[in-house]
Amino acid sequence: MPLPLNIETYVVTGPTSGIGLCAARALSKQGRVVLVGRNHAKLEGVRTAIERQGGQALNVICDLADLESVRRAAAEIIALDLPIAGLLNNAGIMPLREAKTPAGLDLTFVTNYLGPIALTEALIPHLPDGANIAFVVSAIEDPERKPAKVMGMRGGRFISVEASARGKWLPGGARMAGVDAYATSKQCALAAAFALSRENQRLQINAVEPGINPTTGLGGANAIAQFLFGQIITRLPPFSQYRSTPERAGNIMTAVLTDRSNKTGVYYDEKGVPMTGSALAHDRQFQDRVLAETRAFLAETAA
Ligand SMILES: NC(=O)c1ccc[n+]([C@@H]2O[C@H](COP(=O)([O-])OP(=O)(O)OC[C@H]3O[C@@H](n4cnc5c(N)ncnc54)[C@H](OP(=O)(O)O)[C@@H]3O)[C@@H](O)[C@H]2O)c1
Repeated sequence: MPLPLNIETYVVTGPTSGIGLCAARALSKQGRVVLVGRNHAKLEGVRTAIERQGGQALNVICDLADLESVRRAAAEIIALDLPIAGLLNNAGIMPLREAKTPAGLDLTFVTNYLGPIALTEALIPHLPDGANIAFVVSAIEDPERKPAKVMGMRGGRFISVEASARGKWLPGGARMAGVDAYATSKQCALAAAFALSRENQRLQINAVEPGINPTTGLGGANAIAQFLFGQIITRLPPFSQYRSTPERAGNIMTAVLTDRSNKTGVYYDEKGVPMTGSALAHDRQFQDRVLAETRAFLAETAA
């Protein structure tokens, strides 16, 4: 049966687990949800659960670590010709060690940053005025963030987009290369969100820090790290004040994605209150440079 056109549609990446799953469920109460993920069986599970609750959902296969897959997924979403009210760039990973894609790119940087930007840039011209785009980022990008500092994290380690794509980070970073990759990918996503919001005044483009959600897949961190982080560390200061749940985070995402008050270029914290990110992410020159280099890199890989 063809889908009715007059229902608002929300596109959600990473809807098969954690925050994205809760956001997809919450958004399905507001409209139709396009579930964008890499695993067909998992997507089917989420889709049927949403439809059992009376919602509407459809699946689009997309491996964000594979830029060709992202381009195909974007074309498939555009061909659906649905009225997209919001795009939630939620999917993300945090492997602790360095990891590469089959194309030789840094797995974390492509999954968390290049893939989402390629998807967003492809969809933007097809979004109606007033549509929302939200990037799920992380306060770890900020070298001055206290809980991250305590954990030995050193914030984004950006040299250039090209260097990040190849897994090269500014020296003096965290002990685990995976953390530098994660922080840099999220810093670039935050900076790009700000740059895109300035460029596209007809849209609302924002970023959200979801808080510390120890019960999610935590983007693939290993079991020991997950236990230590989830059951011990996050119950203590300075972490405890940022502790959240995927349900709460999903509701914040939903509030940001359904907002109609023309707020754009805002970085929200785990309570949905505007927050400040790193000085670098707020630097306009840095934002423009990151976006320009990203476009050049994506154009090169598409050629
Ligand atoms: N949890 C936290 O404390 C925390 C804090 C700050 C920021 N965040 C951010 O919040 C977002 C959601 O994280 P989470 O904690 O909910 O993690 P999660 O439970 O591990 O969920 C990650 C989601 O991303 C998807 N994904 C991973 N790699 C992908 C790829 N190559 N292509 C397409 N989809 C892919 C996963 O799909 P599969 O099911 O197929 O694996 C899953 O749906 C991430 O961006 C994360 O960086 C989380």
